Parts: sequence; C-alpha cells; structure tokens
Amino acid sequence: MSPDREAPAFSADEEAALRMDLEDPLSRFRERFHQPAGPDGRPLIYFSGHSLGLMPKAARALVEEEMDDWAATAVGGHFHARRPWYAYHERFRESGARLVGARPGEVVMMNTLTVNLHLMMATFYRPTADRHAILIEQGAFPSDAYAAASQLLHHGHDTGGSLLLARPRPGEATLRTEDLETLLEERGSEITLLLLPGVQYLTGQVLDVQRLTAAAHRRGCLVGLDLAHAAGNVMLRLHDWQVDFAVWCSYKYLNAGPGAVAGCFVHERHGSNTALPRLAGWWGNDPDTRFAMRPEFVPRAGADGWQVSNPPILSLAPLLASLAIFEEAGLERLRARSARMTDYLLALVDGLPGGRFDVITPRRPDERGCQISLRVRRDAASLLMALRTAGVSCDFREPDVIRLAPVPLYNTFHEIWRFAHLLDRAAA
Ligand SMILES: Cc1ncc(COP(=O)(O)O)c(C=O)c1O
Repeated sequence: MSPDREAPAFSADEEAALRMDLEDPLSRFRERFHQPAGPDGRPLIYFSGHSLGLMPKAARALVEEEMDDWAATAVGGHFHARRPWYAYHERFRESGARLVGARPGEVVMMNTLTVNLHLMMATFYRPTADRHAILIEQGAFPSDAYAAASQLLHHGHDTGGSLLLARPRPGEATLRTEDLETLLEERGSEITLLLLPGVQYLTGQVLDVQRLTAAAHRRGCLVGLDLAHAAGNVMLRLHDWQVDFAVWCSYKYLNAGPGAVAGCFVHERHGSNTALPRLAGWWGNDPDTRFAMRPEFVPRAGADGWQVSNPPILSLAPLLASLAIFEEAGLERLRARSARMTDYLLALVDGLPGGRFDVITPRRPDERGCQISLRVRRDAASLLMALRTAGVSCDFREPDVIRLAPVPLYNTFHEIWRFAHLLDRAAA
C-alpha cells in the first residue's frame, strides 16, 4: 500500500459495511472472543482494545487445565503437568518473537511492562559523567516518564539536567521524525538512551523506529521501546532495525487479560553478552545449573537471562490462547484488515458535519495502527457519556481526546458504520 495514496473511497451505505464483513475471511475470528453486552443487551461496540483486549474463548480452558494439573499433581506439575511449568515460558519463544520481528531467544514473556522497563534500564542506562541524559517524548505515557526519572535519580542525576523531552511542533499533535533526528544530532553526545513508543498512546502515531534507531546509533545512543500499543497491532522488525531493547504489555492488542504477563526483547548482540550487568534472579540463571544452588549467578544467553522469578503460570495461560489465534490469522493479514478498517472509519468520520472534532491520528496508513484519536472541540466528557449510553466502549484521555480502536481480530465493518451514526447523534 502506498503511504501517499489517495484516501480510498467507501460507500456510506449499511449494505456496503455488511458486505465488507461478509467478504473478508478474517471476519470469522470474531467468534473466538467473548463479546461484552451493552446497555440494551446487544454486544457493545467494543473499541477499547487499545486498553484491554477482549477475552479469547479458549483462554478459560487453558487456565482451568493448569488449575486441574495443580490440584492433581501439586509440585509434580513443574515437570509432569500437561504443559510442564518448568519450561512453560519457552512456549512463547517462537510465537513471541514472530510478534515483534525478533529471532527466537531475543524475546521472553515475563513480569509487567514497567517492571521490564526498569530491568532493561538497569542494564542499558549506564550513565557516565559526560553522557547521562535520557531522551523521551514530552507526551510519554506517565509510567515511562516516572521510570526514566527514577532511573536518573537512582544514578544521582536529576530530571532538570538529564531528562530531555522531544515535543511536537507548536500547533501539531504528533512528533516529526526529522525533528527527533535533529535533536539527536545536536544533543546526541549527552544522551545515553532514547526511549520511545512504537505507537504513541494518545495520538495513535506509529513512529519510524528504523530511521530513529539508525539516527540514535549514529550518535552512540542506545534505543529502548515501549511497545504497549504496538505489539499485536503493527508490523515490527526489531531484530533487523537493530533496536537495543523493547518492552510491551499483553493485555491490550494481545488479549491476554488484565495485568497479563508482559514481553521483553533484547537484541541478540546484547543477549549473547552474558557479562552485561543486570538485576539478577534465579530464573535468569542457566537452567542446567539453576538447581545446583550455587552462589554465583550464571546468566542464560538471550532475553531469558533477564528473568528474575519463576513465571506465573495461571497468568501466562491466556496468552497461549491468544497467540494461537495470532498465529492462525497472521499478523500481516490482520494489519491489512486494520488499515482498511481505519480508512473506513476515517472516511465516515470525515463525512460527518464538521467543527465538532479533529482527527489527531496521522492520515498515512503506515503512520497509524488500529487507533484513531479524536480531539473533541467542546465537552468531550459528555460526548463520551452519550457514546457509552448508546452502547459504545471507547475511552477518554484528558483533556479532550477520545480514543477508538477497531481491532481487526474481533471488530466488524458494520460496527464502524453503526459507530459513525452514533457519533453523529451524540455530538449533535
Ligand atoms: C504506553 C504504555 N506504557 C506503559 C503502560 C503501563 O504498563 P504496566 O502498568 O503494565 O506496567 C501502559 C498502560 O496502559 C501504556 O499504555
């Protein structure tokens, strides 16, 4: 798909929406998910997958199997459960890597996003007297900003001197790649770490990770990514792009449930370096000597070597259900459906009477994922309330942004059509 192409034309008829659902073979995956009911008993128009993905129907059985194996085998389950717990996390080696364009061994599922971010920064934020800044965006998700600021303080620096902020230009909502490149060019010698999102949480902007990673590396800075809104949403090539590390959660587009176990990527050029300092725990130790109970820590090569504790099996089980669906549907095909869905949503929103909201998500399909963000010109909270009453689940971020995420795995074109009508009425 050419990024500069004309926006495709869509018929605004209901029949056209129904036909698109009928003709798309990926529509069948909706059946694999539970659909929460709205106020009138019909399924909600669930556009909150950027916040918490729907529950895969297969998840319950996988959790119950672990409960049953726990009941039946207790400690024996570590080696004799149907899916032995000792090596459970290794089940995500291939599928987890495929999600983010990594090689097996570069990805491990563990902990939660912000915890992984701290673990990564413990290794990759190694300030020196001359080079101690972290560059993040001004609009970074607060947890990233808190984590970065607390790492600075932990190393005796302060945010005033060492936290550099990239901002959109005045009057613009999204970051420009060339502005980030200029900042790196001008201040790169002070920067230890560039910490960016893959997809910006508020605007839905997809950042040009490949170009920015190259620019940061040219100036000797390492690159870490928060992929909370990118994993399972857009195509990533973390290995080829030479990203140093990345972290993501699994409860949004990966549909693994509230507080689900998160992901972590360490590029193999770092993963193979077992001498790198890290915050260690026994699960990062080489499994061959883990139970030798020796005092010295021998890290396992690869991302696995950053594990600290033994994995929470009951929380990992839903992720197996979800990733099996991704494997079957194929991320590339989902991505193509998603681009069509957001094109369609934008076309319908653009057709509504103007003056009530602005789309702040980039128009180019390669600069956005599932999410479309609307800046509401007046009384966004009432608009959100009216949408909720009408059976739409979407969310509001202060001060005036409504985020909508039609998810290609379980939303439909007809829901987008219905939503546009409800939006028109709610915003009147
Ligand atoms: C972009 C982004 N980063 C970080 C987080 C925090 O993740 P966690 O609470 O799982 O550490 C979120 C949560 O929604 C997020 O959207």
